[in-house]
Amino acid sequence: MRFVKHYSPAAEVFLHHGDRLDFLREIPDGAAQLIVTSPPYNIGKKYEKRVLFEKYLEQQKETLIESTRILTERGSLCWETGNHIAIDGEVFPIDIYIYQLCKRLGLKLRNRIVWCFEHGLHCSKRLSGRYETILWFTKSDDYVFNLDPIRIPQKYPGKKYFKGPKQGQYSCNPLGKNPGDVWVIPNVKNNHVEKTVHPCQFPIELVERLVLSLTSPGDLVVDPYLGVGSTACAAVMHGRRAAGADLSEEYLEIARERIEQAKAGLLPVRPRGKQVYVPSERDTVARRPEHFGPINGVITNLSDIYAEQ
Ligand SMILES: C[S@@+](CC[C@H](N)C(=O)[O-])C[C@H]1O[C@@H](n2cnc3c(N)ncnc32)[C@H](O)[C@@H]1O
Repeated sequence: MRFVKHYSPAAEVFLHHGDRLDFLREIPDGAAQLIVTSPPYNIGKKYEKRVLFEKYLEQQKETLIESTRILTERGSLCWETGNHIAIDGEVFPIDIYIYQLCKRLGLKLRNRIVWCFEHGLHCSKRLSGRYETILWFTKSDDYVFNLDPIRIPQKYPGKKYFKGPKQGQYSCNPLGKNPGDVWVIPNVKNNHVEKTVHPCQFPIELVERLVLSLTSPGDLVVDPYLGVGSTACAAVMHGRRAAGADLSEEYLEIARERIEQAKAGLLPVRPRGKQVYVPSERDTVARRPEHFGPINGVITNLSDIYAEQ
């Protein structure tokens, strides 16, 4: 696959090594159908320099202005964020601030998707964070949204109408149900099949749902903070064009390799729609040593939490 270093409408993948603004300024008005990204959270990860929160928001505003400019009239912008944690431990939910910035740019919110994952750091002075959000905005009221490619199985597909004119017929949509706005998808930890050296990469499935529902084959999908290229991988896997930037050449090199693999259908990916693993009590590590006793006098085992549904 050929990767181009400058924007061309004919290019399948355009990758820029450098700042997101230089990258976005190369892309003409209205060229991108979808922008999906997870910006740095200004929490001192190895790929970011911690700055005052006001300065951070100013930088986000610059990225959002350029991103809105390159969106098509029927396009979508999806900003995935968590919390900024100040030095004193105060929590700033970044999406609350991003929402205000996007509103001022004339974008309209369509969903605030909660991405729920079950693992992460254990906090001792607040509840452990187990979700982040994706704010999905559109540029106009006439936007692309294809529900069918992202439908999921119903819990009770065999349910039938029990009265009325449709009595006896199946009540659910045979194509599956709307996945809703709470997405339980494991994050990419060490034992994840998609894991690279990047400390916070997207699971491919998360971006795939956005690519499949908000774009059509041939459309351009842009990620101004590309990391190891998960957005671009999801795009090329489904016949879309991709563009992205990152300050790190190391991440971009991994992105190139992954995009090549994705294009060839060889990228190791957690299968879409795969259920989250629920440990069985036959797994030794999932069994609570008897001498621990019940937690708070009530809960003894995982099966007490994962009640039969
Ligand atoms: C949260 S990570 C994104 C990870 C990505 N979603 C993935 O799946 O690999 C944010 C990325 O933004 C990059 N970055 C930070 N500041 C940047 C800037 N000014 N311009 C472009 N990229 C930047 C970092 O190097 C980092 O890889």
